[in-house]
Amino acid sequence: MHITVDGTNDPSWKYHTGFVPQIVEQNAPKADEDTYAIICGPPIMIKFTQPSLTTLGYKEHQIIMSLENRMKCGIGMCGRCNIGKELVCKDGPVFTLEEINQTPKEY
Ligand code: FES
Repeated sequence: MHITVDGTNDPSWKYHTGFVPQIVEQNAPKADEDTYAIICGPPIMIKFTQPSLTTLGYKEHQIIMSLENRMKCGIGMCGRCNIGKELVCKDGPVFTLEEINQTPKEY
């Protein structure tokens, strides 16, 4: 397990310091057929971590993301969470990069 924070002044911090994409590139296992990466967090972090995983050899179906940050009502009523015809609150919130890339480019 790799834990990181963007920065700290705490001298007792014993884990990584730095941005998630860098930590992923330095520490994540290389992809093979049975390896999957799961990304959960702020959309900007998810966006910038995907290229790092691709660099490590992860295919689009091996990159799994939780996109619950897009949700508002959470019950399929407001339409704020749509990605193409998919509603994150009803059809997700977990999608593969392959599924997201099949929707219109808006995320
Ligand atoms: S959060 Fe309102 S429709 Fe999905």
